[in-house]
This record gives sequence, C-alpha cells and structure tokens, in this order.
Amino acid sequence: RKLSTKDLLSSAEKGGYAVGAFNVYNLEGIEAVVAAAEAEKSPAILQIHPGSLKLGGPLLISCCISAAEEASVPISVHFDHGMSKQELLEVLDMGVDSVMVDGSQFAYKENLQYTKYISSMAHSRNMMVEAELGRLSGTEDDLTVEDYEAKLTDLRQAREFINETRIDALAVCIGNVHGNYPASGPNLKLDLLKDLHALALETGVYLVLHGASGLSSELVKECIRLGVRKFNVNTEVRNAYLDVLRKNSYKDLVHIMESAKVAMKMVVVEKMRLFGSAGKA
Ligand code: 13P
Ligand code: ZN
Ligand code: NA
Repeated sequence: RKLSTKDLLSSAEKGGYAVGAFNVYNLEGIEAVVAAAEAEKSPAILQIHPGSLKLGGPLLISCCISAAEEASVPISVHFDHGMSKQELLEVLDMGVDSVMVDGSQFAYKENLQYTKYISSMAHSRNMMVEAELGRLSGTEDDLTVEDYEAKLTDLRQAREFINETRIDALAVCIGNVHGNYPASGPNLKLDLLKDLHALALETGVYLVLHGASGLSSELVKECIRLGVRKFNVNTEVRNAYLDVLRKNSYKDLVHIMESAKVAMKMVVVEKMRLFGSAGKA
C-alpha cells in the first residue's frame, strides 16, 4: 500500500521507532526493499537520489510508485537531496510523496529562501518536505575542529529555519557523514541531538539522520531515543549489491540480479529490525 511519508513518520513518532529510507537505483533495489518490508511487516521509504534519477528518469519513480502501491505493507516514495529548484519542481509533478530540499551548498539565508519556496510548492500539492540545516560531509578526512563545528546544525538557526520554511522534517548535522565513518568511528554530538529533539517536539517536525550506514546498533538506538524518525541508508545496501557483482563470475545476468536482490534484502531486513520498524506495518 502506498502511504505518505508523513503518515509513516507520524506513526513512527507515536510508536517511538524510526523508518528506514533506502536509496534505490533500479528494479533489484526496489524489489529488495519491498521484499524486506513485506517479510518483516515493516513500513519503508523508497528513496531516489538525483544521480539515479538522471539515469532512470521518471520511469524509475513510476516503478517505485507501482511497487509501493502493490506492496502489502505501507511504503512511500521520497526524492533525496534535491539540489536545484528546477529539478525539485519537476519531481513534484512525478507523484512522489515527499522531497528533500538540500540547500546545504548555500549560505544560511539563501538556504532558508530556497527551502521556503520549495516547501510552499510542495505543500500546495500535499507533499511533505525535508530540509537540511548545516552541512553534511563525506567521510571527513582533513577537517579542522572549526570546520567540523561550522557544519553542525545550529540550534538557534534551526528554530527560525523551521518556523520560516514550514518544513515537516529536519535533516540534522550532528557529525553524521555520508559513506563510511573514519576508522576512529562516528563522532555524533548527542547533546546537540537532544536539544534538537526538544525543538522538534515543540515545533512538530520529524528528525532525519542521513549517513546511517556505518553506525553501531547502540548509536542507532540512542538516536531513536533522542527523536530520530527517519534514517537514510545508502552505502551499506549499495555495497551488498556491488559485492555480489565483484564476486560473481556467473555469466547469467538474471542469476546475478537475483543474488544482488537477496544480498540487499538481507541488509535492509537487518536495518528494519534495528530501527524498530519491523512488525509495525
Ligand atoms: P549512507 O551512504 O551513509 O548510508 O548515507 C545515505 C544518505 O544519507 C542518503 O541520503
Ligand atoms: Zn543523505
Ligand atoms: Na554513513
């Protein structure tokens, strides 16, 4: 069943768990997420990144929507990291349930104006909006402490940002990174998350954590306790696919695709159990 992202997150808020948003690139990925969700009786979010949209086009989004509609559990379709107005406006017309406005390349004021504009366009179509405040890095190799701190979500700005833009979900930057964490492990500012949680409860926004690949079970659980309701997962699921491609010497493409689907599904199942969404559909 296709449900809106907002409904999924509102149930997660009531139930004190989080929903996984899994980046999908093709049919195997879509099927892996849906199969995992059905097996675990879990809600899920199918998430499309601009890079995969560039290749798959509107057809990829249609596939996600059909898969969500045919699933026996609630699934929504989300557009991840929208970096331009034009792209976001196009995607809004493709029938997704929610979009992420990524204005992190802008200075604060510009990000606010950009997010506010897309937020009003999305809401006029009854769609949910997630936006990022702060700046998420890739694995931060050579960041100075000042650089690192400057990228974190600013609590005071967050209040104004939420009130002005009317966003429904806030992607927080608390030291989380896309891709792998440094060998020393993640350095998440849980005190900041705690403050952002209080703000989220006060303003009614849902907290989102990008870069969920590579977090320990303990950290994930702590983040859920501190209000995270949506975890974005890309790298771990993608690596499951890539590992199959690397290790497989079969010439039969269907066999490889099937193996890739099974491998990705296993990772997704594990995440659904960890996020507490398993059994909640
Ligand atoms: P990971 O690649 O670390 O899982 O991050 C995914 C993400 O944030 C997608 O938006
Ligand atoms: Zn992300
Ligand atoms: Na990560």
